[in-house]
Amino acid sequence: KRRITIRDLRTAKEQGERWPMLTSYEMFTGKIFDDAGVPVLLVGDSAGNNIYAHPDTVPVTLEEMIPLARAVVRSTRRALVVCDLPFGSYQVSTEQALRTAITVMKESGVQAVKLEGGLPAVESVRRIVDAGIPVMAHVGFTPQSVNAIGGYRVQGRGAQGDELVAAAHALEEAGAFAIVLEMVTAEVTAEITKRLSIPVIGIGSGPHCDAQVLVWQDMAGMGAQATPRFVKAFGDLRGNLTAATQAFADEVVSGQFPAEEHTYH
Ligand code: KIV
Ligand code: NA
Repeated sequence: KRRITIRDLRTAKEQGERWPMLTSYEMFTGKIFDDAGVPVLLVGDSAGNNIYAHPDTVPVTLEEMIPLARAVVRSTRRALVVCDLPFGSYQVSTEQALRTAITVMKESGVQAVKLEGGLPAVESVRRIVDAGIPVMAHVGFTPQSVNAIGGYRVQGRGAQGDELVAAAHALEEAGAFAIVLEMVTAEVTAEITKRLSIPVIGIGSGPHCDAQVLVWQDMAGMGAQATPRFVKAFGDLRGNLTAATQAFADEVVSGQFPAEEHTYH
């Protein structure tokens, strides 16, 4: 079995097939999601919030991303693995962007990189793609710019809608193989999905997309905090893990565990 390629994803779009994408940051989820047939896994810089206990993605470094990406690659066989370029590792210049993308590809073994931004990111996308590295774009609400945007705000209302459509077109023209739309109105998302020939991956952007992505801890009900409206928890991992932890603790305290069958003589 070979890995999914960017050609497979374009074929899926042509054939009108929707597909799921999840984040993964380590071996267990990498293997579980790969075995479940999720075709694309993202080593997101949402590791900032979900692994490293930062308030957002802004502090995440390249040195923190690469070992996570390497673990996901090593624990998967079929999925196309994408690694986020963290804040500060590509915005300085097209040269910096290309150099960082090359470092990620060489040191982690992922099959593609993702970076955030509309028109200002176009030249870097083109430069990286021209070097032979597949790039996934990311527009709408871009978490690395949360301080400039002024909070977690829906994107695409009013005149901003036309700007998003233009940016999506420019990113496709620059060679991006797919584009994430985050917290974009369903109407603008439908327009972009119809007009682009590359897959449009939505998160909080309504049903009219070629693919949907969620942070895995949100998808599985692992998170503690209140999640945004666009999240659906498909499991209760937090509840299950809490119950298992409580049962283990109780049996240690009571002396029920370990029992005879767990004991060597
Ligand atoms: O870092 C991340 O998890 C992401 C997805 C939510 C698209 O960028
Ligand atoms: Na991200």
